[in-house]
Amino acid sequence: MNLFKSNVFLDQMDHCMDMSFLNKYDKLIVELGYGDGKLLYQLSTKDENTNTFYLGIEIDSSQYRRSYPTLSNRKHNLLFVNSSFEEIIAKLPDYSADEILSILPHPKYIDRKNERFWRPIYKTILRKIKKNGHLLLITEFTDELFSPVIYNDYVNWKGWIIETFTDLGFIVGNIIEEVPHTYTSKFIDLFSNDQERIKILTLYLTKNCN
Ligand SMILES: C[S@@+](CC[C@H](N)C(=O)[O-])C[C@H]1O[C@@H](n2cnc3c(N)ncnc32)[C@H](O)[C@@H]1O
Repeated sequence: MNLFKSNVFLDQMDHCMDMSFLNKYDKLIVELGYGDGKLLYQLSTKDENTNTFYLGIEIDSSQYRRSYPTLSNRKHNLLFVNSSFEEIIAKLPDYSADEILSILPHPKYIDRKNERFWRPIYKTILRKIKKNGHLLLITEFTDELFSPVIYNDYVNWKGWIIETFTDLGFIVGNIIEEVPHTYTSKFIDLFSNDQERIKILTLYLTKNCN
């Protein structure tokens, strides 16, 4: 079943972004800050025969220029956009995304000291997720001096992040103290090599439908 019946276009920087994928595909997966884009490219290749569309949003134009022509060329189910995800997410219809991927977001969007800035963004993200959809958040804890992580500090941080996303209205589902094995990205590979100083946490955050 297709939930979106109208043609939607949106202004993106100095040109128009074609949002007709909303009409054509049953499922939508969005990656925020995709970096080199390889993860989304791989996922979209695995799913080429399903009716799923992959939308990647990256603010850094040099990364976008490298990813866009090389990776999404001639792929019907993948679009890389050079913009801030706040802007694009805000313009998606509510209840439109099956999965939103936030893989190792910039500290501005997850650190404790920036919480007041990012809380409204995750509230918007929650509105955009379908009833049975989820936000997959993979994030990391490090010591301020980048020394080996003290386990109790990690446990306190984990408690804080779970409480914060619960307070935002998410249901915290699976909690994994590593990266799911099917996921790989430039930063996942970098961070996984330093597990003493970088503790990774994966949260499946669903919507409370009651
Ligand atoms: C730590 S990197 C992670 C990249 C990728 N997810 C990975 O795992 O390799 C964070 C990425 O988010 C991008 N980014 C930061 N703020 C953004 C925003 N407001 N909108 C879109 N992308 C953003 C950065 O340019 C960078 O590529």
